[in-house]
Amino acid sequence: MFGDRMARRQLRHYRRKGPGRATRRLIDAVAGASAGVAGATFIDIGGGVGAIQHELMARGTARGTSADASPAYLAAARAEAEARGYADRMTYVEGDFVREANKVEAADIVTLDRVVCCYPDMPALLGAAAVRARRTLGLIFPRGTRFMRSGVAVVNFFQRLRRHPFRVYVHDPDQVEAVLARHGLSRSYLRDGMVWRVLVVVRDGPSLS
Ligand SMILES: C[S@@+](CC[C@H](N)C(=O)[O-])C[C@H]1O[C@@H](n2cnc3c(N)ncnc32)[C@H](O)[C@@H]1O
Repeated sequence: MFGDRMARRQLRHYRRKGPGRATRRLIDAVAGASAGVAGATFIDIGGGVGAIQHELMARGTARGTSADASPAYLAAARAEAEARGYADRMTYVEGDFVREANKVEAADIVTLDRVVCCYPDMPALLGAAAVRARRTLGLIFPRGTRFMRSGVAVVNFFQRLRRHPFRVYVHDPDQVEAVLARHGLSRSYLRDGMVWRVLVVVRDGPSLS
């Protein structure tokens, strides 16, 4: 699904247009919740071609980790980081974050932009992300409206017909927040668009890691 051709196309698109609207909102909200990001560390899970990574580094973060299941996307994010001159402050981790998380150190900020909707086990993915967020976690995921659930059912139907293993998952937004709350993270920002919810949560108790 997230192969070389798609990665090249998305990197070209990102270079022309920058981050999309929801991603820009997420970055601003994360920066707001973290009282600025200068000097902070971050983990961007499923970052694709790295829109969040490039923007956070441009705003002065110190170090980052890009963790992605797609080698093609990880390579595209790294190529752009090299072009921008900050790749030496990045760590790249390839594979399913749920399995690879124990290789990743905690960071001030953790982001997941449109990743939860690619993964069946939302509590496992968000749990692994949440325990590594020292201050702030931001994510974008489908709002879960009835209209959207119907659309996704159609997409998944055609995926099954094509015998393609990729599925889209619309997890219950209340359950998403409940999982984060169980890890000591509570809402600091929420904004709904037509399709996507931008949610930022902050740690109210001591960090678990
Ligand atoms: C829909 S793309 C979103 C990419 C980017 N965040 C954006 O919004 O443009 C989903 C990304 O999440 C990655 N991904 C999905 N499940 C993952 C997992 N369990 N661990 C790590 N990466 C994952 C995919 O490889 C892909 O890069």
